[in-house]
Amino acid sequence: MNLTKAAARRRTFAIISHPDAGKTTLTEKVLLFGGAIQLAGEVKAKANRRQTRSDWMDIERERGISVVTSVMTFEYADCVFNLLDTPGHEDFSDDTYRTLSAVDSAIMVIDAAKGIEARTKKLFEVCRLRDIPIVTFINKLDREGRDPFELLEEIEQTLALDTAPINWPIGVGRTFAGVYDLEENVIRRLDAKENAAPEAVDTLDASTFADCLPESDRATTAEEIALAKAACRPFDLDSFREGHLTPVLFGSALRNFGVRDLIERMAKIAPSPEPRPASTRMVAPDDPKMTGFVFKIQANMDPNHRDRIAFARVCSGRLSRGMKAMLVRTGKPISLQAPQFFFAQDRATVDEAFAGDIVGIPNHGTLRIGDALTEGENLTFRGVPSFAPEILRRVRVQDAMKAKKLREALRQMAEEGVVQVFLPVDGSQPIVGVVGALQLDVLKGRLAAEYSLPIEFETTRFEVCRWVESADPAEIDKFAASHRGDMAEDLDGALVYMATSSFMLTHERDRYPAITFTDIKDYQ
Ligand code: G4P
Repeated sequence: MNLTKAAARRRTFAIISHPDAGKTTLTEKVLLFGGAIQLAGEVKAKANRRQTRSDWMDIERERGISVVTSVMTFEYADCVFNLLDTPGHEDFSDDTYRTLSAVDSAIMVIDAAKGIEARTKKLFEVCRLRDIPIVTFINKLDREGRDPFELLEEIEQTLALDTAPINWPIGVGRTFAGVYDLEENVIRRLDAKENAAPEAVDTLDASTFADCLPESDRATTAEEIALAKAACRPFDLDSFREGHLTPVLFGSALRNFGVRDLIERMAKIAPSPEPRPASTRMVAPDDPKMTGFVFKIQANMDPNHRDRIAFARVCSGRLSRGMKAMLVRTGKPISLQAPQFFFAQDRATVDEAFAGDIVGIPNHGTLRIGDALTEGENLTFRGVPSFAPEILRRVRVQDAMKAKKLREALRQMAEEGVVQVFLPVDGSQPIVGVVGALQLDVLKGRLAAEYSLPIEFETTRFEVCRWVESADPAEIDKFAASHRGDMAEDLDGALVYMATSSFMLTHERDRYPAITFTDIKDYQ
């Protein structure tokens, strides 16, 4: 397969949303278009989530949810779509953020009745770090929702993102009858048969909606659509690709309405893999040498063997089964004997991956998050970030003799991205940081099962933490010396300031203007 062509067909994306906006429903409907799908680790449907899978951790079985991020791949409209799941509920974790480092675009699902919610905003901000293009799907039009103009306005105001509506709802809630395509001037009806051609509209007035809306709503709907056509921004591909403008589609995932339009639009406008910044150069997707980076580790597929799967995104070249790659961090070769490919209907027949694809590489702890794999070239990829955790807990092991073992185990857990670990410089017990509380349960379960280390968490007096950096090392020394009890080192030895409140953080920021207190740190 020609590398340029293979990369051009790839659409690697995630769906971001606040819990309950309809991500699961939309994912299922999107996958229907691709027919059969390979699922990496997780079966998406909620009903299936409750199924027991023998090779999963106890904690997952107990809670009936998945702790993993999965890859779902399907072909549609001559494109290969790699959909990376971003866990959204209690299983919200660092993985959720990191997954966004491996995608080229995202679909943002918004509940029409609720608008932009907290989690959506947060995930959007992570997308914005790399200016990932976003397609917006305003969902649940079959229920009473907010005024479409108001929703667009909210996206623009809250996210500082221009909007270009592609279609416009006809009715809402009980009167929801379909959408008016603002570009093509056609009506797509909710009750139309699968594959039915949309209805062309010649004149836009009350009569246009004679057979789909109650009389009282027809004229206002026509006026609203005329206004949308006249006043809203038209779609602009460059602006979208630069991450400044989002096309907006209205629909209902539950009714499987608007989903085909959405996926067809993704095929048309979502970017295929683009050159990625690496430490030494930009890496083009059709560069003949294979490169990739690890953005997620899934451990414990089989607790007896401590095997783990590293999820790597291919950035260039061709990754083929059996090839030898170099693990850049150690300079050692790693044999890709049994990479798992998620992008084919039939796993057995596929043995190569291209830029944009995700492969699972089984290993016994050799690979860690942020690792680069190349064909011998010494480069690393930027942008697999750590985010300052929102929950900080001190870890205590009951048997004091095991303190050293605990540190080693925590180091491994941090390398896998289960939690972040901070070692206080005053030598007190390690502190772990997470963005979702479930990560703490996972850590506890795994330390007990894999290391025979029963641990307890204790609250700390710290509420927020930030990495501290300065152009002047003396400033950092001064700060660290006067805040010895509040300083810790992360896995890489980077210095972290832990504050008892955001108020304290602001206070210290004001007092030490030469220091930057950052809440995002690259892995390399
Ligand atoms: P999430 O993954 O973003 O959390 O959302 P999910 O798809 O689970 O949807 C949350 C709830 O919203 C579900 O109802 C789902 O059926 C409903 N929903 C999703 N899309 C639509 C839509 O287009 N229209 C309407 N009316 N509802 C929609 P639930 O009752 O909470 O769960 P369930 O028991 O139906 O699974």
